[in-house]
Amino acid sequence: MQLATTDQSAALFKTRRLAHSNIFVSDYVKACDFYHDAFGFAEAYRQPDNLASFLSNGNTYHDFALVDVKSKYAKPGQRPGLNHLAFEVESEDVLVAGYKAALAAGVEFLGAADHDVAHSIYLKDPDGNEVEFYADVVEDWEEARKGIIIKKKPQWIPGETNVPDTRQLFKAVPNLKRLSNVLVQGKRVTHMGLAVRDFDAMYDFYTRVAGLRPFFGDRASQCVLLAGFASSGDISLLRNVEANDGMHHMGVEVWSEADLEAAVDGIKRIGGQVMREVDHAARHAVCVTDADGLLVQLYVNRDWRPDVIATADAADLPFLL
Ligand SMILES: [Fe+2]
Repeated sequence: MQLATTDQSAALFKTRRLAHSNIFVSDYVKACDFYHDAFGFAEAYRQPDNLASFLSNGNTYHDFALVDVKSKYAKPGQRPGLNHLAFEVESEDVLVAGYKAALAAGVEFLGAADHDVAHSIYLKDPDGNEVEFYADVVEDWEEARKGIIIKKKPQWIPGETNVPDTRQLFKAVPNLKRLSNVLVQGKRVTHMGLAVRDFDAMYDFYTRVAGLRPFFGDRASQCVLLAGFASSGDISLLRNVEANDGMHHMGVEVWSEADLEAAVDGIKRIGGQVMREVDHAARHAVCVTDADGLLVQLYVNRDWRPDVIATADAADLPFLL
């Protein structure tokens, strides 16, 4: 793949933000209950034929996809961990333009999919993590995707099946639900920390292909936080950290500091563990495990600016970003 410039305006996909985190779990029904009870996310819809549950509080049509390791989407011997991460672009025509530009630049894709409410394109990053770019193609995706959904996906060929839709259908100001009777009131999935093998190649992919900009750090840093144009951090690339197949943590914004205190006090009671707390001027983060041992960073931002983040201890950064 030859890309001539690091200028963000020349990036192939114009990413707004990270939109969902799709993970394999050991038991999707139990995981759905855990993500509800522990982190305060509601199940928006379920696909029993795919052994998958999709959770959202209104931020996107799903913020979490929990896919069973026994699902047809899993490999033999699949362990809990990352399936894919998905970035949102503002409209289908922007998605298709990115796809065509990427094809012309020699980027290889795994395929495309019509999820009725969204059209998606899939590829792998240089470390082998699966990445999705998508655009909403239905205005009221909450109404269109709820309850039990069993249906075949029609074929969608980007730019050929239909004239790409120019409407911006993401919710710029979502009407977020706040669940009661949960340990932590989760607001939305915002970012993912990746334990990176080939740092330079990953940096180039996420800036030049995904169109993210460095929010904190740079290509030479131990850790860099990259962001879409509607975000203050979507992907942190982390050198020399231990992780589960590339995914170090999923970042979940919560409603209040009280939620973080509740997580510290109660997560163990319901089958998770507190792994690390970083109480910093930029952000208060509590990293806990889910029922499969996957790391979830629950956080509230305080003064989330690069010069404030720079005052954090280097050892804390992977758990703060
Ligand atoms: Fe997805």
